[in-house]
Amino acid sequence: MIILGIESSCDETAAAVIEGQNNRVKLLSNIVASSAQIHAKYGGIIPEQAAREQLKAIIPVIGEALAQAHLTKDQIDTIALTVGPGLIGSLLVGVETAKVLAKVWGKPLIPVNHLIGHFYANWVETESRIKLNSNRLILNIPIFPFIGLLVSGGHTDLILMKDHGKYDYLGGTRDDAAGECFDKCARLLGLPYPGGPYLSKLAEKGNREKFPLTIPMLESGDFDFSFSGLKTAVLNLVQNHPEILLQEQLKADLAASVEWTIVQSLIKKIIPAANKFGVNQIVVSGGVAANNTLREELEKNCKLKIKNCQLYVPPLNLCTDNGAVIATCAYFNHHPQDPLAIQANPGLSL
Ligand code: KG4
Ligand code: ZN
Repeated sequence: MIILGIESSCDETAAAVIEGQNNRVKLLSNIVASSAQIHAKYGGIIPEQAAREQLKAIIPVIGEALAQAHLTKDQIDTIALTVGPGLIGSLLVGVETAKVLAKVWGKPLIPVNHLIGHFYANWVETESRIKLNSNRLILNIPIFPFIGLLVSGGHTDLILMKDHGKYDYLGGTRDDAAGECFDKCARLLGLPYPGGPYLSKLAEKGNREKFPLTIPMLESGDFDFSFSGLKTAVLNLVQNHPEILLQEQLKADLAASVEWTIVQSLIKKIIPAANKFGVNQIVVSGGVAANNTLREELEKNCKLKIKNCQLYVPPLNLCTDNGAVIATCAYFNHHPQDPLAIQANPGLSL
């Protein structure tokens, strides 16, 4: 089955083509156009501007995804699209384009929840997932049930996934998402937008013990997160110690502390969740899954504290928003709907 996946929930316009066969997914093309450079001038996304850029990009991006897959529209079996959550103007661009293409090309259309879609980055067959053991192919993809952590710019959620399309919600952020906290703290440190990767780079040179921050929600006794207090603590620090912003080393020290605190807050909920539900498979997804410290700390802590733990993190290019995860999600959750019944849903949740 050849699936074209379309994603436009935030400031990316993305399309990808996958080939799914016998529960295996091959990536044929993956095109992402971002308007982040435009938003960088303002330090955050301007929704209307994002949607205008997406209107310009969507058809060329889809065309490029088909071209790079060396396929024509006639060889596409199904179209998958993100229907929410996200910015309404942005979602409408992808949703209405996909509906028109499905009608005109006569293809089935599969709506995808962007949040669930992110997890499917761990099913796409990239080189790092394929291992040869005595000439036997071992495919390193998640086995149900698993504890799934979604850490993106808009969401931080923990789920117990029992099968494709079957999951229990365990907890999530009560305020800001982890990515949002990275971005806002980065902005307080004068770093460009989107700040997560910049803060992480700066943190490499920092000493996290110089400005110790409290790990939020450690004693909450549930699987919830909270990051707005951390952001306020960083705001207070830079206001009370203006020298931080004037010295690169102090900025790096604070960045290291912010990163460490966010990462620890995530890990301190994953481990008890896995142990409570007797699950040894951990699957991480979303833009923040690209964070090196998170990947290293997960590797270390999960292996140490969860018996026979198997950890799955997406390859870096599939952590942030893309069409490949949307198409892959649709392959494993194949429920086409009437195009005319499909609507963009900015408030869609897990
Ligand atoms: O999943 P995503 O592309 O968009 C949403 O669905 O929200 O996630 C974007 C978020 C941004 O907040 C960005 O700063 C963060 O992921 N991010 C990172 C890193 N790479 C992306 N945060 C920390 N470290 C990174 N290396
Ligand atoms: Zn996303």
